[in-house]
Amino acid sequence: MTDRYAVIGNPVEHSKSPLIHAAFARQTAQDILYERILAPLDGFVATVRSMREAGFKGANVTVPFKLEAFRLSDQLTERASDAGAVNTLTFSDHGLLGDNTDGVGLVRDIRDNLAFGIAGKRVLLIGAGGAAEGVLHPILEQQPALLVIANRTLDKALSMVKKVEEQGDFRYVSVNAYAFEDLEGQAFDIIVNATSAGLTDSQLPLPEGVFAPDALAYDMMYGRETPFMKFARERHAMVADGLGMLVEQAAESFYLWRGVRPQTAPVIASFRA
Ligand code: ATR
Repeated sequence: MTDRYAVIGNPVEHSKSPLIHAAFARQTAQDILYERILAPLDGFVATVRSMREAGFKGANVTVPFKLEAFRLSDQLTERASDAGAVNTLTFSDHGLLGDNTDGVGLVRDIRDNLAFGIAGKRVLLIGAGGAAEGVLHPILEQQPALLVIANRTLDKALSMVKKVEEQGDFRYVSVNAYAFEDLEGQAFDIIVNATSAGLTDSQLPLPEGVFAPDALAYDMMYGRETPFMKFARERHAMVADGLGMLVEQAAESFYLWRGVRPQTAPVIASFRA
């Protein structure tokens, strides 16, 4: 019998996840069906309940339900609990297992697909919302020399740093919170844009010299060039959008559900084409 999965979101009609999972299923000969499900903004819990009743095996969760999925999960993986959000649910007789594959997706795209090592690098993470929280620990696990979190609202960056310090797992990495204006005079090897500024075509107030020579500028958004990507390209940084991350997080979810690791490179290449 065909196993059913879906991505739950609102909006969800533009999600590429069904195409990505269909490509993985063909490649690995897995008999699955992967759908898009639009949940009402106040109806996430009811949607999950009816999916379980209908026999779905799992779901990806996207905007704006990742926190609700976190709260609804009966069990959490360590990386979901670190992220404080869930993007992958597995339905079983024991309840809901919540995982988060976003961070590992970002790290694999940077490290493996773009062949850009994170260890020992100076990393700037811009943003302190859910997207930034989701990737913080996986980046720190790569042991950068330094991680700066910069955010328009400094308090949110400060509280992310405070949480890391309280957990005490990453004492070997220097982790700091900066306001944008404090970035003047600092240069970074890897800059990850985890803000939603690109959605409104807003420019981030980054200083001229923020990219070290041969720096990587990574925008977690995909689909078009954001002002951040344009700014980085014009300053000769290597520029990447979030398509690779999207495919990698999907591959990790697929592996979790099916126990088979799909090849991501051909899927990324076909979406680029
Ligand atoms: P997400 O789940 O996508 O992270 P979020 O939790 O609403 O969404 O966080 C959005 C992030 O983008 C925040 O870091 C936000 O900065 P504030 O904390 O100051 O609100 C950032 N952001 C959004 N629009 C921005 C803009 N025009 N300039 C700078 N930062 C922006």
